[in-house]
Amino acid sequence: SSVLKKGQTSLKHNMGEAGVAAMAVTYQKFDPAAYLQYNYIPPRADFERKDSIVPWKLACLHRAFTEGQQTGAEAVAEGEGGSLDWTPYIQYVCKLEGRSPSAWKEKAARLREVVSDVLPIDVHRAEPMAPDALPSEGADCLVSCFCLESVSPDLDTFTKALGHISKLLRPGGHLLLIGALQESYYFGGPGVKIPVVPLNEAQVCASLQEQGFSLIRLEVYTLNQDMKVGVDDVCGVFFVKAKKN
Ligand code: ADE
Repeated sequence: SSVLKKGQTSLKHNMGEAGVAAMAVTYQKFDPAAYLQYNYIPPRADFERKDSIVPWKLACLHRAFTEGQQTGAEAVAEGEGGSLDWTPYIQYVCKLEGRSPSAWKEKAARLREVVSDVLPIDVHRAEPMAPDALPSEGADCLVSCFCLESVSPDLDTFTKALGHISKLLRPGGHLLLIGALQESYYFGGPGVKIPVVPLNEAQVCASLQEQGFSLIRLEVYTLNQDMKVGVDDVCGVFFVKAKKN
């Protein structure tokens, strides 16, 4: 490896920055309502099917919050979006929790109560959130879904981003990381093709280890042909539960 003098940056570093800047431009055209239609309605969110992606993800999250010391599954759910009806999601979680499906309204109301804010984050910055956004000791739990690989042009940028978000957690805090396996692009709207760093399980595990996490659980979902609906080239989904050392 070469020795860099003060003020010089490595070519690899510059390429990573250029890649991140190029991705930021692509995201200008991101269409949230279209993205929800691609990934959060049947067949990918079919609550009658155990082999559908979203029920699988919710069951993984449910288990992560009911085993071990974690509490507060109720405090975590996907947000409210005007363009999508989240009722079947909340009803499905009620089912996972052994509640009656009719408890969903109460659960939705409680969710609105406990979500106190929505704040911006830039995972490419060493300090990804405003310094006063979280308690200084760090959070007990961090959940990140389909984010890091979808904003990283390469594995090195993905690993660094993981290190950045790790700073938001307290030592001993838990990370729940969900993401795409072997995905090279996804559509973030009609004609909005967004590049993704293709990851395999070994790379995810190596990145976690490099950034000071101990793996507790890794689960892999493999897509059936009928889940391949032309909105991406994803082959699988990983679910990781890890502890910050
Ligand atoms: N579900 C949500 N986002 C996704 C993505 N980028 N690829 C595959 N499945 C997803």
